[in-house]
Amino acid sequence: MRKRRVYLYCVCACVLVYMYNFLGVSDYVFSKSYDDNFDYPLNIDVRPLVNEILNGKKPSVAPINVYPYRFLTNSGKCSTLDRLDLFIVVKSAMDNFGKRNAVRQTYGQENHIPGRIVRVLFFLGIEDPKSITQVRVEREMADHKDIIQVDFQDSYYNNTIKTMMAFRWLYEHCSTADFYLFSDDDMYVSVNNLLDYVHDNPTSETTNEIDKSKNKGNGRDSILFAGYVFNSAPQRFSWSKWRVSLQEYPWNKWPPYVTAGAFVLSNRCMKMFYVGSLFVKSFRFDDIYLGIVAKKLGVTPTHCPKFHFYKKHYSLSGYKDVIASHGFGDPEELYRVWNELNPY
Ligand SMILES: *[C@@H]1O[C@H](CO)[C@@H](O)[C@H](O)[C@H]1NC(C)=O
Repeated sequence: MRKRRVYLYCVCACVLVYMYNFLGVSDYVFSKSYDDNFDYPLNIDVRPLVNEILNGKKPSVAPINVYPYRFLTNSGKCSTLDRLDLFIVVKSAMDNFGKRNAVRQTYGQENHIPGRIVRVLFFLGIEDPKSITQVRVEREMADHKDIIQVDFQDSYYNNTIKTMMAFRWLYEHCSTADFYLFSDDDMYVSVNNLLDYVHDNPTSETTNEIDKSKNKGNGRDSILFAGYVFNSAPQRFSWSKWRVSLQEYPWNKWPPYVTAGAFVLSNRCMKMFYVGSLFVKSFRFDDIYLGIVAKKLGVTPTHCPKFHFYKKHYSLSGYKDVIASHGFGDPEELYRVWNELNPY
């Protein structure tokens, strides 16, 4: 009888220890409060540094986050333009030839909207430099001249490098667009609806005094960082693809963030985010990283329900107002839907 009880205790203890460790319960217990002390490095006010750099001064603190990667190709798409309405960055992967072609023939057509100057570039990393894929990508670059290849290993957990190298390219080579759209190569996008949205002058809340006055003006000088916004917490379960350890991120909540896939920034916001990122430690999920940078900059992302994180079920009338929707990894479907909505 006693033996059996001891045995039961043992089993219970084992189950508890297992839950505590394996399920990541301890990580939930020991996480730090996001609301009370979000001291993400660098734990300084980055706003004055950003203003210093944007005013052409040398920052009083040295940057901590400058990626050592290079652009293997460049593009003169922006160099002859004083101003653009919209610049579209499409994050793609080496093998996605079909998806890139679908984008080129749908929302990525640069002359689709009369009177609007829109430009599009794809951003890629590298794989094996001697692979057939690389040869094919080089041929594609020669044909279309719309790919910027960056010399880092293209993989899911290097997504932040891709996003932030695209920011760097924009900052250095195309800082004259009113708005910037970042999109993945498996999205449906309506540039018309996007331009309608941004021309209604939506703004994001900001704690930066200099920006508060500019936010009353319009367009490019205002602060806008918008898309589908999440307010959520890190996953600590050990089996999750998105598991994040306490070492990597010790707080109990994410800052509000715009899910990657599609998001739009005003001109000023693009510059603030790039310059701000130089003082904010990198993080492997790019959408959360931009949320962290936004938090540091005092910018609250704006939720726009016309961006769909979950694929919106297609119907002609249902898509009338959609700006972007996930779930168009099949190029045929993107052609079909986009052509039905743009019948001329
Ligand atoms: C990210 O890219 C760097 C530079 O190419 C590489 O050294 C690293 O292994 C890559 N990381 C992942 C997770 O693929």
